[in-house]
Amino acid sequence: MDHSQTTASFQNLKQGADEYIKRRNLRLLANNRKELRNFTRAEASAYLGIDAKTLDKYVVAAEIDPRRHEDSQWSIDLEEMYVVRGLLPETLRKELKFERSEKQKTQVIVIQNQKGGVGKTVSAATIASGLATEFHQEYRVGLIDMDGQATLSMYYAPEAEQEGELSVGDLMMGSFDLDEGETLQQVTSDAFLPTTIPNLRILPAAQSDRAMEGWFHERVFSHKLASPYSLLSDIIANVQDEFDIILIDTPPSLGYATFNAYFAATSVVFPLSITENDIDATCSYFSYIPQVWALLENANHEGYDFMKILLTNHRDSSTTTELMNSLYDYFAPYLYSKEFKHSEAIRQASSLLSTVFDMSKSEYPKSKATFQNAQQNSYEVTSQIQRDILNVWREQENK
Ligand SMILES: Nc1ncnc2c1ncn2[C@@H]1O[C@H](COP(=O)(O)OP(=O)(O)O)[C@@H](O)[C@H]1O
Ligand SMILES: [Mg+2]
Repeated sequence: MDHSQTTASFQNLKQGADEYIKRRNLRLLANNRKELRNFTRAEASAYLGIDAKTLDKYVVAAEIDPRRHEDSQWSIDLEEMYVVRGLLPETLRKELKFERSEKQKTQVIVIQNQKGGVGKTVSAATIASGLATEFHQEYRVGLIDMDGQATLSMYYAPEAEQEGELSVGDLMMGSFDLDEGETLQQVTSDAFLPTTIPNLRILPAAQSDRAMEGWFHERVFSHKLASPYSLLSDIIANVQDEFDIILIDTPPSLGYATFNAYFAATSVVFPLSITENDIDATCSYFSYIPQVWALLENANHEGYDFMKILLTNHRDSSTTTELMNSLYDYFAPYLYSKEFKHSEAIRQASSLLSTVFDMSKSEYPKSKATFQNAQQNSYEVTSQIQRDILNVWREQENK
């Protein structure tokens, strides 16, 4: 092929791809209008930790009719659940609402591994939805999708791009205009979109965010950008009063997007699925990582509060046990003790762009036990991260 034929071929690929994506997105949207997670009466009283009679009383007080649905079965959705919980006296609440003090900083956790397919996106979605729904402290949780592939955004803001919402790339590259009287802070706050979980918001990625790496290279090359790692951190500074915890999902690469995520973060979680390939790749990555840190430190990052490895997609087998043992030999202080187990329910939820915390049990008709086990395991995985966060806040408070 000569020059112009090559250009034409690339254009053909682009055209085919654009049309494919358009159709796929329409189909996904049609099948995937997400509903709020709903709870049966038994599930609701377990969730709130009160007996069914007490539940009934507060559901009435909240002026909710749990049998108004077509099938007239008792059910309330997650938003209604939060209203009911809001009416409970302190003595009946599982936990009191968390109020972050001035000394306690927003925890920004980057989920990173240069290897693809290790569970970064599934972990980010599960941990964020877990922190937002399963802990009655009512943490205000933010998600940022730094991966231009925008998978995480399809979970929680599937219509953002079509509706012209700003993406994280738009904010970083400054590709928007302020309306009269509008502040950057307002624009940033509005870009964190509400989700089907009452206290979880997401700053989505858009396909156009793929242009970000090129944009950075050009700016850095022409000396128009003095500190190319701090753009995301500046964005987060604008909304830190609105969130207690922010999780950042990253692309499987070490470009400017990932460096910005690392620079903005106060802690790091490395997901690692336990196969020989993934461990090899991750070890090569860890061999290189001091050089990443040197650049971040040079840009005045103050250091991380915690750094942990989260084993993901874990299947029980003798090979896995052997691999785990060798991981413990070398990385013991960094390994979370609860691994994120492989589960058909997690796989199914992720293919529906949901997690076990924003799906209703009735949406997983196959096996209630499988779903419940996955939910329990995801809760344990999330709890160990919550414990690390609480430790950081405790230390900050006592300083
Ligand atoms: N605990 C799990 N159980 C079952 N499948 C999982 C689990 N974790 C991840 N997966 C599957 O592995 C695939 C890759 O995960 P993903 O989070 O997209 O990886 P990454 O973001 O690192 O590329 C997903 O399609 C998901 O279905
Ligand atoms: Mg991913």
